[in-house]
Amino acid sequence: MELDLGCEEAIRDPAGYFARAREAGGDLQWSERHRAWVALSHAGVSDGFRDSERLSSDRMGTFERAARGRSEAFQRAVEMLHAWLNFRDPPAHTRLREPLARAFTPRAVSGLEGRIARIVEERLDALARIGGPVDLSAEFARPLPALVIAAILGVDGEERERFQEWSDDLARLVFSLEPRRVEDGPVGEAAEAFMGFFARHIERERREPTGSLLSLVVHSPAGKLSPVELVGLCTLLLFGGHETTTTLLINTLATLLERPDLQAWLRANPGAWDTAVEEFMRVGGPARTMPRKVKVTHERDGRLLRAGENVFLCIAAANHDPEVFAHPGEIDPLRDPNPQLGFGWGLHVCLGANLARLEARLALRMLLERFPRVEPVAVPPIRGGVMGFGRRPVVARLG
Ligand code: HEM
Repeated sequence: MELDLGCEEAIRDPAGYFARAREAGGDLQWSERHRAWVALSHAGVSDGFRDSERLSSDRMGTFERAARGRSEAFQRAVEMLHAWLNFRDPPAHTRLREPLARAFTPRAVSGLEGRIARIVEERLDALARIGGPVDLSAEFARPLPALVIAAILGVDGEERERFQEWSDDLARLVFSLEPRRVEDGPVGEAAEAFMGFFARHIERERREPTGSLLSLVVHSPAGKLSPVELVGLCTLLLFGGHETTTTLLINTLATLLERPDLQAWLRANPGAWDTAVEEFMRVGGPARTMPRKVKVTHERDGRLLRAGENVFLCIAAANHDPEVFAHPGEIDPLRDPNPQLGFGWGLHVCLGANLARLEARLALRMLLERFPRVEPVAVPPIRGGVMGFGRRPVVARLG
């Protein structure tokens, strides 16, 4: 069978599809289609995440080549991406992660609960006012994480429509498997817009620190960050902070609409939300595959990986590995332990994981508490690609 991580079946029935793929080609296999080694087992994917000595996250070379001969604005976008620590190896990675890690301690994140609950409450009030069928994707899952990250960063939530648009434009470059082919205009314009937007906020924080996340980063005692790096980090937080969490909410809301039994069970067992969110991450976590490059030629799982080759760590496959998860195709809201890899692992493990978990738990629990009836009107099938899932409307009637 020819492996295709983005095919309809891999998205609709990951447990079945990846079991067949492992059976046919092994846990680590070369894919001609993806021009990459693809790790499909839980052990292989978690080893890959931990092996930053031999597998590199650095994508700057690809972006820099794509920037050659382009407009100044496009080059500015690539310059900003230098601060995206997920695309960097140590020592740059260490220097950039330090100021953020201080702001995302478990204690700092749990201190945000009241604030996030108020934002959720406001969105629920807005949903209640709509009356008739509601697109939970557009009216709830999309605005909520953007409002939360804006509040935490200390920027104006009213501007979210604008920065969501810029994020979408920047995503064309960030998620491209071939940055060379990405169109110049929208990416460059988004970079310019972000620079202008954050420069004002950073300047304000320098003069009058507010204690926001932005404030912590701007006044970090760690190695000095250049102005472009500061803006780059802010764009990463805005982007990482809303795009992914939105997709997790959309996928989970769609599941809950299709499974009234699960909705009813969760309403009756509110103490299960922690394990339930972990399980929703396992089956519908937004990041399906994380790319790496082989740094040094080495043997892995009996295969010879040569320096420069691509490696895809397939989270979606690892999260459905029957060696680790009993009945991987079933949703078990009490699954524990649940070593799902949706937030990555090792050096680059997601900094916002606890924030995303908290947001998902509050948003979903409060929605089901507020509306005893959440019924499907139109729930199109899940959409996706090699790297992640696509957005889709999820229309419901609330009562
Ligand atoms: C459901 C929501 C989220 C998912 C599924 C997710 C997923 C991930 C994954 C898989 C990685 C590892 C990347 C790699 O190994 O190459 C990562 C890294 C990262 N995430 Fe998240 N993320 C989520 C939410 C957030 C939020 C809310 C924030 C911040 C507000 C955030 C900030 C980051 C940052 C800064 C990194 C880079 C860490 C590093 O390279 O050291 N993420 N995320």
